Amino acid sequence: MKNNIAILCSGGDVSGMNPALKRFVEYAFTHGMQPYFVHNGYEGLIDNHIAPANYHDVAGIITRGGTKIGSSRSMRFKEASYRAIAAENLRSHGIDKLIVLGGDGSFRGMERFYHESGIAFCGIPSTIDNDINGTDYCLGVDTALGVIKDAIDQIRDTASSFRRAFVIETMGRNCGYLALVSAITSGAEVCLIPEISLDIHDYKGCFQSQIAKGRDYFIAVVSEALNSAEVAQWFADELGFESRISVLGHIQRGGNPSVYDRLMAYKFVTYAIDALLEGKSHSIICYTQSHFNFKTIDEVALHPYQLDQELLTLAREQFLPSHCQM
Ligand code: F6P
Repeated sequence: MKNNIAILCSGGDVSGMNPALKRFVEYAFTHGMQPYFVHNGYEGLIDNHIAPANYHDVAGIITRGGTKIGSSRSMRFKEASYRAIAAENLRSHGIDKLIVLGGDGSFRGMERFYHESGIAFCGIPSTIDNDINGTDYCLGVDTALGVIKDAIDQIRDTASSFRRAFVIETMGRNCGYLALVSAITSGAEVCLIPEISLDIHDYKGCFQSQIAKGRDYFIAVVSEALNSAEVAQWFADELGFESRISVLGHIQRGGNPSVYDRLMAYKFVTYAIDALLEGKSHSIICYTQSHFNFKTIDEVALHPYQLDQELLTLAREQFLPSHCQM
């Protein structure tokens, strides 16, 4: 085997992947390795879109969201026959180490691939949803939260000018992390996430009292797993507030990577390459209680992700209708 190492991105892209690619190329060269890019995730692995990377490929990309090498959600990689083709492609380039930026589904696929092919990998948790068990932080979350903050701040400008209720829908799949942190840090009146069960109708008395004392617009942050339309209708029907829904959508996945995501990309990639060089063959690099540590996919996928209990407790105090300030 030559001293070749590859990187790929799988699943939803995040801001932070490009800074990770830059660090990957530079740190691989530092160790005398030849870095390779696999384009378009596992699809590119199967179709042999694998090419050597150099400094020119990563020049200037630290400022850009998305991923220069593309990503995909591959159905074919779930089939052993395609994984065998992917392994052969890597071998033909002399690559025996791979870094995967993605989610737990992508790592599960990689684990099978490792056992079949012997090609070592290290997974870097990357999803704006922040819903991977075993790590407190996934690459891209901070930038996504910054994008949401800017959007809500701007929506607040118009909400306050019109005496309206704005229902702002965030991404996150079935995880309320983005909605919860955004609601707290943007001063929203309502936060609806799957992890906290509450009935919007229970806010009625409290909000009526607040309106009587001068509240003249509302911001409600709702996770995409829940029904924004119902909430908007409730403001109109029950409080007589004109309401609007703003679905933030894919803008949450883009944008100039934050300082924190650039730093985390740098650290994740550095430790991932170090781990592969030390002989760790199938691990996921996690970040818990401010420390990096390595876990197996079984440890990561053992439980479904659970939102931080402290954050949930604070959120209950803030957002449960029973705690609403009259
Ligand atoms: O997992 C990241 C994510 O952005 C989710 O928050 C969202 O539900 C989903 O991907 C959207 O997927 P797609 O880009 O395929 O529409």
